[in-house]
Amino acid sequence: PERLRVALLGCGAVGAGVLAYLQSRPDLFEVNPVLVRRPAKYGDPGRYTAQLSEALAGNPDLVIELLGGADRPAELMLSALHHGAQVVTANKAAVAKYYDPLHACAEAGGGAIRYSAAVGGGAPILETLKRLDGDVVALEGVMNGTCNYLLSRLGEGWSFDDAVAQAQELGYAEADPAADVDSHDAADKLSILIREAFGVALLPDRIAKESLRDVTPEAAQAALARGEVLKQVGRCRRLPDGSIEAEVRVVALPVAHPLAGARNEENRFLVTDGSGMVHQVFGKGAGRWPTATAVFADVMDAQRALLGRVPADLPAPVSLKLLA
Ligand code: NDP
Ligand code: HSE
Repeated sequence: PERLRVALLGCGAVGAGVLAYLQSRPDLFEVNPVLVRRPAKYGDPGRYTAQLSEALAGNPDLVIELLGGADRPAELMLSALHHGAQVVTANKAAVAKYYDPLHACAEAGGGAIRYSAAVGGGAPILETLKRLDGDVVALEGVMNGTCNYLLSRLGEGWSFDDAVAQAQELGYAEADPAADVDSHDAADKLSILIREAFGVALLPDRIAKESLRDVTPEAAQAALARGEVLKQVGRCRRLPDGSIEAEVRVVALPVAHPLAGARNEENRFLVTDGSGMVHQVFGKGAGRWPTATAVFADVMDAQRALLGRVPADLPAPVSLKLLA
């Protein structure tokens, strides 16, 4: 069977999990040296490189971007798409900021960009929106695992700094955790959700947001004593004039609220469709394996797309055999 040439850009909390998945299928994937900043940190000198040209050698069929940041990764993805490659990323900052050029370039180049892991991690919220196909009137959710973990620990009396340090240790936080605690990450995700739910462009910096820095352990514990729980919630809805109202806030929810039960790094989403039905989507929202699993699902979709959808080593479907 044909093997795809893969460029993996980034091998941190998420990239290391994706590399393990790729290495588990040497029959399907041939992985170039993996791009990192400091190859010496990773051991095995042949497998890692700081040279972009080595990571992208041989016109890869598939480019997996897991670096972090927005501008430089977007530039790399645009170039890959321009050359007709399939691109997979978990980078919500880049997808939110460069949504239009990335999609336009994918269409023009004949490739595709997939980013299932960018919102929800292991919670299939983007897949749910795709199925609803625009039939959405409102959406709300707990969409940042670090902040949810942090608020959970504050409720147990942890200090803010200790809780952030532990979220970093667990691989939930962004390289600069300010992106999480100042709600930029949730705004990036909400911006993508607004695109996919309503087809409307609302850039993250146009979304009102509230930082978690002023939340104290005392406030989190007082909420619990009242039968409430503090959550960072992103919300958006379509207004009668067609515009979109959106915000990211720290709110006190009654413990019986469906979003209130999100524990630690979990993400939860409630999507209201045109009939008033509320769709609930729950799952692990951050960390190596939930994220790497979602990235690898996109990788397998790309692999199927590139190889004409039917893997060469599978028997032909029964109906085709009957026709033969
Ligand atoms: P990490 O910081 O853990 O890893 C980043 C990796 O990219 C490292 O291998 C780093 O190399 C490499 N890298 C960064 N900048 C450069 C550069 N300029 N040149 C070469 N290599 C570089 O990040 P994560 O794995 O946590 O996140 C990766 C992406 O996935 C981000 O976009 C993030 O938002 C997204 N994401 C993360 C989730 C999570 O739970 N962690 C969940 C969902 C999405 P080195 O170690 O040498 O610096
Ligand atoms: N830093 C992000 C979070 C990673 O904590 O939710 C997952 O997108």
